Amino acid sequence: MKKILIIQGGGRPKGNTAQLVESFQRGAEEAGHSVEVISLLQNEVKGCLGCNACRYGKPCVQKDSFNDLVPKIKGANLLVFASPLYFWTLSSRIKAFIERFYCIAEEDANPPLGRYEKYPVKDCALLMTAADNFFWTFEQAVSYYQFALVNYIGFHDKGMLLAGGCGDTNGKPQIDKTDYLEKAYQFGKTIYGDC
Ligand SMILES: Cc1cc2nc3c(=O)[nH]c(=O)nc-3n(C[C@H](O)[C@H](O)[C@H](O)COP(=O)(O)O)c2cc1C
Repeated sequence: MKKILIIQGGGRPKGNTAQLVESFQRGAEEAGHSVEVISLLQNEVKGCLGCNACRYGKPCVQKDSFNDLVPKIKGANLLVFASPLYFWTLSSRIKAFIERFYCIAEEDANPPLGRYEKYPVKDCALLMTAADNFFWTFEQAVSYYQFALVNYIGFHDKGMLLAGGCGDTNGKPQIDKTDYLEKAYQFGKTIYGDC
């Protein structure tokens, strides 16, 4: 049994991303994992200010939800980043959340090439939705995920589900007309092996 924390950076409370998250959660819970979803709409997390107070042993100076989320982040085995595609990359809510990992980094006397600090060891996964469905649609988002979260922070990638063709935000969410909800359910159910 794993502890899974889903960071929901979607905009619409019943939108494509929320539905994708729900299906993943259902699958993961059926497989016996405990799942908590944190909506960044209900829990505001601002971007890092670069003030470096955290480098002097202080909690982050920002008055928002992040400090309360730190124990949940540290206690989770798997962090799932869920986002709609906004201007070809992750939503600014998810980006701001990731920037705040700066304040949970620890000193590393011997970091690997290109990393300067030590981050908690976690698994990670990516869930995304978009209106378009071209071969390049998720390219920037996937590149950021791989460079920032996997290569730099050092999380272990457990996979991604990129749900293109879900309709734009002018109209109703269309993800129920695709097979991505079933795929998300299966992804959640099998992320730590077939159950
Ligand atoms: C500000 C904004 C920017 C968007 N940018 C893109 C984009 O670059 N490419 C794309 O395919 N869809 C784009 N979309 C559409 C959304 O990614 C898509 O409708 C998504 O499924 C919405 O998620 P939600 O239903 O969870 O809110 C954008 C939507 C908004 C509101």
